[in-house]
Amino acid sequence: MIILDKENKLITLHTENTTYQMKAGAYNVLLHTYYGPRLPGGDLSYLLRAKERGFSPNPSEAGSDRTFSLDTLPQEYSTCGVGDFRLPSIELELPNGSRTADLRYVDSEARRGKYALDGLPAFYGGEEEWETLSVLLVDEAAQVEVELLYGVLEKYDLITRAVRVKNRGNGTIRLCRCASLCLDFIRSDLDFITFNGAHVMERCPSRAHLRPGVQSVGSVRGASSHQHNPFVILCDRDANEDYGLCYGAMLLYSGNFLAEAEADQFENSRLVMGLHPYQFCWTLEPGAVFTAPEAAVVCSPSGFGQMSRQFHRGIRRNLIRDPWAGRRRPVLLNNWEATEARFDAERLISIAKEASQLGVELFVMDDGWFGARNNDRAGLGDWVVNEEKLPGGLGALVPRVKKLGMEFGIWIEPEMVNEDSNLYRAHPDWILRVPGREPSRGREQLVLDFSRSDVREHVYGQIKAVLESAHISYIKWDMNRSLTQVGSAALPADRQGEVCHRYVLGVYEFAERLRRDSPGLLIEGCSGGGGRFDGGMLYYTPQIWCSDNTDAIDRLRIQYGTSFCYPVSTMGAHVTAVPNGCTGRVTPLETRGVAAMHGTFGFELDPGRCTREEKETARRQTAFFKEHYDLIQNGDYYRLSDPFQNGPYTAWEHVSPDRREALVSLVTGTAHAAAPLLTLHFKGLDPALCYQVNGEGSWSGDVLMKAGWPLPIPSGDYQAFQFYLKAD
Ligand code: GLA
Repeated sequence: MIILDKENKLITLHTENTTYQMKAGAYNVLLHTYYGPRLPGGDLSYLLRAKERGFSPNPSEAGSDRTFSLDTLPQEYSTCGVGDFRLPSIELELPNGSRTADLRYVDSEARRGKYALDGLPAFYGGEEEWETLSVLLVDEAAQVEVELLYGVLEKYDLITRAVRVKNRGNGTIRLCRCASLCLDFIRSDLDFITFNGAHVMERCPSRAHLRPGVQSVGSVRGASSHQHNPFVILCDRDANEDYGLCYGAMLLYSGNFLAEAEADQFENSRLVMGLHPYQFCWTLEPGAVFTAPEAAVVCSPSGFGQMSRQFHRGIRRNLIRDPWAGRRRPVLLNNWEATEARFDAERLISIAKEASQLGVELFVMDDGWFGARNNDRAGLGDWVVNEEKLPGGLGALVPRVKKLGMEFGIWIEPEMVNEDSNLYRAHPDWILRVPGREPSRGREQLVLDFSRSDVREHVYGQIKAVLESAHISYIKWDMNRSLTQVGSAALPADRQGEVCHRYVLGVYEFAERLRRDSPGLLIEGCSGGGGRFDGGMLYYTPQIWCSDNTDAIDRLRIQYGTSFCYPVSTMGAHVTAVPNGCTGRVTPLETRGVAAMHGTFGFELDPGRCTREEKETARRQTAFFKEHYDLIQNGDYYRLSDPFQNGPYTAWEHVSPDRREALVSLVTGTAHAAAPLLTLHFKGLDPALCYQVNGEGSWSGDVLMKAGWPLPIPSGDYQAFQFYLKAD
């Protein structure tokens, strides 16, 4: 609910469990008054106190009033160069060369429904569930308008933010920074949690007290990156899964981003999140508008679990788009770990035959099917079927797979090119590069200039022809290197600071076109696993390959970290062969299956190499996953333990929305003699209902949550157990 009190310039947003408020105070400076647990309403600006502070300047309108300072009061969207020395949200270079921004409140309006952003991903939904607030701020001296947009999704406590900047003057303005989210708090006794890692070890949570000064994570790699995810949390220092105030903030963006948290001199704090200002500079000619990507925040007054579940619901129902928002995703088998690029049609068919016996619904042909692609040194850019490997093309192969009762999918990496390719030989000027420098290679590939529509057009044409040559129902869209020498031959020197963002807009345009031209196509995002796992890509690709690390034990950590923002249904997870290629670890097949059920579930191995018992296990697990698909993919998710604590087990739980069903999964660590006998407390059950556990007995939800469930004693390392609970 949005309440506009125009007279007092007071704006209040209510969600089911939270309240957010801002107020234009003296001199029309838009102050942030409150964000936290739901309150009945009223003017909360009494919480802000103006006080004279040394070295904190006062706006000229304040005259001799030394108490009003931009440097000390919580701002709704921070400015720069005019008296707030904390993190800026916006930086403008004006025609006169100055780098200042001074924004004042002009007007606001509210309406039902959700705003959309041209060419950018955004949460969506109908008028019955969303409200939009638009707040107009103006910098009169700069002749710049800033529109702050807010979307309120009351039932999930989700508030989105976006920003539009318009040059309404006669001169050219350069936008050097434009954050999507600024959140001020009149306290700094908070923890800052970020999700960090590397290729093959993504999104590991890191938690630390907010310290005086600025702490930040971000990416300058051109993609959101394996190293830091565009999702962060600020929370009470004692917040845990079930207790404490926490604020999660995600950016729906797949390129360079920056998330900064600052504790200031008076123990206030500020969170700013948006496009990374590194190498960013956008020219705004008179009349031009720039739109910053969307951010979304959830405040949970009761711990991380509730925060995650609200994000999960919102992402599943209001970010993932139809037809995949509600539709069941197929169990797939991907040939990559079985064959890499060394395959031909007969080898694929032999794997596909085995896959169909396991209950697999979709067969995916990974890298190696096009151009001269026999290894990763050649062929990228030539999206033409290699008929030496696949005689008769996909027109011959796909019907054979479909005859086995499975759909067919392919791997692509549209943004990349090898020097050893026909595309590069014909168009060496189509790559990202800067004059006078040789481009760096990454995995021996170069990056196509996706900021250019002619380049995208060419690649799109080739891929479209492949899609039209056979019935293809799935694409895995990969992106296997970071961007360097980011320059475009198509833009003038003074617009090179736009290339990185234009590149991401190009990726979004390409993805949107694929979706539009091939309705029903399921696209799985990927960037060397989880290097572009973000809310931006999820708008186009309902699932993303979580990590190239498929070791079941490492996956427990990666998937745990990922789950703080992203739902299980978005995490690509497969059962692979052992010893694992990343860690050399051998885990039981049962355990690999249970770990993969913390995601979209599928296989990435040659079942022909499995024993009869292993095939039986895989078949049974596939059937189990399919049977409980809705519970796992659409249920409420609970983290029951933290795998980074190296405890005796990692456990998690899915609970159906009506709380009549639950599935608890658990994987033990290394086994030890004389181990204690452990009891696990379930969560999220209905205390008044009685549940059968794995078809036996009957216990009340109250008992199972408070007294707990005795865990079996594992014999050996890394054992998996599942408990299926059904209400009588
Ligand atoms: C990336 C992906 C893998 C696989 C290879 C193919 O590393 O993450 O899953 O598709 O590329 O080259």
